[in-house]
Amino acid sequence: MSTIFSPFELGNLTLKNRAIRAGCFEGMCQNGKVTEALIEHHENLAKGGIAMTTVAYCSVNFEGRAFDHELWMREEILSDLKQLTEAVHKAGGYASIQLGHCGFFTNKNVIQQQPLGASPKWCMFMLSKCRSMTEEDIEATTEDFVRASVQARDAGFDAIEIHAGHGYLLSQFLSPWTNKRKDRFGGPLSNRLNFPVEVIRRIREKLGPDFPILVKMNQEDGMPEGIQLDDAIQIAQAFEQAGASAIIPSSGFTSKVPFLMLRGNLPVKEMVANQNSLVKKIGLKLFGHFMVPKHKYQALFQLDGAKQIQDAIKIPVIYIGGIESKKDMETTLKNGFPLFQLGRVTIQNPNFINEVYNGELSESPCDHCNRCVAAMDAGGVYCVSNIKGFIN
Ligand SMILES: Cc1cc2nc3c(=O)[nH]c(=O)nc-3n(C[C@H](O)[C@H](O)[C@H](O)COP(=O)(O)O)c2cc1C
Repeated sequence: MSTIFSPFELGNLTLKNRAIRAGCFEGMCQNGKVTEALIEHHENLAKGGIAMTTVAYCSVNFEGRAFDHELWMREEILSDLKQLTEAVHKAGGYASIQLGHCGFFTNKNVIQQQPLGASPKWCMFMLSKCRSMTEEDIEATTEDFVRASVQARDAGFDAIEIHAGHGYLLSQFLSPWTNKRKDRFGGPLSNRLNFPVEVIRRIREKLGPDFPILVKMNQEDGMPEGIQLDDAIQIAQAFEQAGASAIIPSSGFTSKVPFLMLRGNLPVKEMVANQNSLVKKIGLKLFGHFMVPKHKYQALFQLDGAKQIQDAIKIPVIYIGGIESKKDMETTLKNGFPLFQLGRVTIQNPNFINEVYNGELSESPCDHCNRCVAAMDAGGVYCVSNIKGFIN
């Protein structure tokens, strides 16, 4: 039997196989609440054979959100989250949750205040400018990360995934593109690491030595002024020292090069159709192809950088990016990654792992049209090609 289906120990968990569902924003949390659709989505993934599913982007506080249909961690939703984790456990899987903060690309209409960031910066997608976080803001947000992590564990999550990549707040501090500070949180990488490292360190202290703390980060931001692979190696080492259980190296900056983490088609037409704001609709229609750069897709597109990070640290690196077949999953394992995350292939087919296990499938028909990305903000993520009959 393929090693894909052999167990792996991560902290206090024994994952039944090597496949973890990547955090893929579901767009199913209207008013920031857990819905039946969200529970069913993750229950289906667990039924489909994945060892651990990941509830995508959950803000650690009210101020960290870009959308109204995003979760934010609070007492009020814990019993509903508990229902979700119970449903996943009953279906035979573990549940993880991605915790983060959008920083300078939070939506001022949703959070009813000026967005916060490492340094003042204009966001062309949100049409707003953030203010620089004070030391008090940084301390309060660090504590929000800790509280949210404890609440996630109390709601039955088996692991948490801290979002320190994709241009979210913690990566805004890491990246020289967004961090122009002159204090102990800005300047050299050792300073830019201070806030994210303190977040991980305090969560580890609070959750004890064995609770799995996964950290998603960038192996490259995607622009010359941003994080490059040599910085990423040092960042991964610092996160390991701070207490991370595993690193997930991805790439891209949501507000600048959002499709670097995905590669493939740019679904500009669908993004325009799903946009509520007329100004943004017109902006995207006219300038979408200039505002959002396109990146060529290839299978296993993060492999080389991820390998260099794996060589530099002792904790597991969880491979993510462009896995589309049984052969790709086996290639990641052969390259020394003990675990991998799957995004689009499991949006296209939540039963992907079971079907590979049963020998019914060896390759996903997902064609990286990326229309699922546009769909997630229009009522909930789904494979548009499946519905329109382009696939299967
Ligand atoms: C619809 C969709 C939503 C996504 N939302 C998130 C998200 O909320 N957080 C995150 O870290 N990555 C998000 N991603 C990126 C995936 O986690 C992953 O990095 C990317 O899809 C590459 O993996 P894949 O080739 O297996 O799809 C999203 C991807 C898709 C397709």
